[in-house]
Amino acid sequence: MQFQHEKDKILIIDFGSQVTKLIARRIRELGVYSDIITPEQANKIVNFKHIKGIILSGGPATVVGNKYQRVSKKIFYQKIPVLGICYGLQLIAKIFGGKVKSSKKKREFGRVHLFEKKTSLLTKNFFNSKSSVWMSHEDAVVNLPKNFKTVASTKNSEFTIIENSRDRIFGVQFHPEVTHTKNGKQIFKNFLFLICGIKKKWNVSLQKKRLIKEIRDTVKKDKVICALSGGVDSSVAALLINKAIKKRLICIMVDTGLMRKNEFKYTYKVFKKKYKLNVKLINSSKIFLKKLKNVIDPEKKRKIIGRLFIEIFEKESRKYRNIKFLAQGTLYPDIIESKSSTGSKTSKIKSHHNVGGLPKKMKLKLIEPLKEFFKDEVRILGKSLGLVQNINDKHPFPGPGLGIRIIGSITPRRVKVLQQADFIFINELLKKGLYSKIWQAYAALLPIKTVGVMGDARTYENICLLRAVVSEDGMTADYFNFPKNFLDSISNKIINNVKGINRVVYDITSKPPSTIELE
Ligand code: XMP
Repeated sequence: MQFQHEKDKILIIDFGSQVTKLIARRIRELGVYSDIITPEQANKIVNFKHIKGIILSGGPATVVGNKYQRVSKKIFYQKIPVLGICYGLQLIAKIFGGKVKSSKKKREFGRVHLFEKKTSLLTKNFFNSKSSVWMSHEDAVVNLPKNFKTVASTKNSEFTIIENSRDRIFGVQFHPEVTHTKNGKQIFKNFLFLICGIKKKWNVSLQKKRLIKEIRDTVKKDKVICALSGGVDSSVAALLINKAIKKRLICIMVDTGLMRKNEFKYTYKVFKKKYKLNVKLINSSKIFLKKLKNVIDPEKKRKIIGRLFIEIFEKESRKYRNIKFLAQGTLYPDIIESKSSTGSKTSKIKSHHNVGGLPKKMKLKLIEPLKEFFKDEVRILGKSLGLVQNINDKHPFPGPGLGIRIIGSITPRRVKVLQQADFIFINELLKKGLYSKIWQAYAALLPIKTVGVMGDARTYENICLLRAVVSEDGMTADYFNFPKNFLDSISNKIINNVKGINRVVYDITSKPPSTIELE
């Protein structure tokens, strides 16, 4: 995915590693713009003028043998520095006549210690007494190509960092982009600023003006419609588009009845009264609850909610004339994931509900003003647009809402019980200063009742499950380690204040093997 507006940039050629997008993250953190493209896209580039550096990512493939995923040799002849990471290093070695072997005995997974062999611009200020790096490889370079030298080795692999300083081609066998590699960011700093000589220019707030102008130029005199949920992405997208075209943006809020307590009314008020947006609230909770009655299967629930949402949104949009565009809060990771070279082979875990299915049917053109950004960059943009803090810093919330947090059948009573428990949990996190330390937290209802005793009387009520995770992007997550007194007090507060719950449990699984949501 290339964004034409950016001039000087770093290109990341993606060979399918699970962590390629972290390379883009690290580079952005250093104030430099980068694009992730496929090897096929790289082979078609004719103008290299604004490309200041090229990074070849890791990947699951092997260069051993004759059939391997490669990139045209012409990218090495542009006098642009190249850095290969893991598979990228092996590919460089292979292309320039070195030898790569598969070695089950000498494979390295996890943290490994590095030994410096030679100074290099790439490793300036990188080595220290604990130079441990994160490895994940079975193949290894066994013969270096001509003009390449070893910069660092490990116990098992001699050519862990290599360089051809004359042609400015570098390779690292480990993954400097993951946080397990101590000081990994230094490798990118050196590559970008000492080797490629690119300047720090990328800054989210500076993009605001450009984005507003781009929206204005694209939409011209037409209208844009968007589904506003009150989550960070759709809120920032709506504010941005509103800045560009004012009331020609129509925001539709479909209340499924499966939102958190008070949330929808609050969002509506903020956008209507504070920001004076053209917002229409549609209360559809009855129909959602009716269609979900006695539905237990998670995938069925997801499909019913997703389909109904689209139907209602479509019906509402037909009431407006001259709408040419549909705005969506798609983020950069969504784009990378849907285009990833390995993405199509991954198995489907959950049918995600968002408004992605809308444009094909509605024949509207898509506007995705956030498609260049990561979540935290969207929050920076939101802040600079004046988005209220409690929306801007809000945890992610899934499209199907509480529908997938009420395990088993969904009834109006169970929705109410869960809303109350969730409200108490989230408020306590805010009060105790824990909310911002957690990536996502919520309460859920389990489909079983258990016996309790309250005021000498027997109770037979719901179990409330609390989940709180830390994560970088939702792809993997660890459960949050609460202080014990927090768990004690939250359990008391929920049971004392929510009629219908007599037991509280805390979910201590990470993702994988679990997922963040229960369904
Ligand atoms: P899982 O449960 O797959 O969730 O570990 C990962 C992240 O995705 C969110 N999620 C959704 N977001 N529509 C969304 O927009 C959905 O259908 C959906 N399902 C899960 C989840 O809350 C977590 O942040």
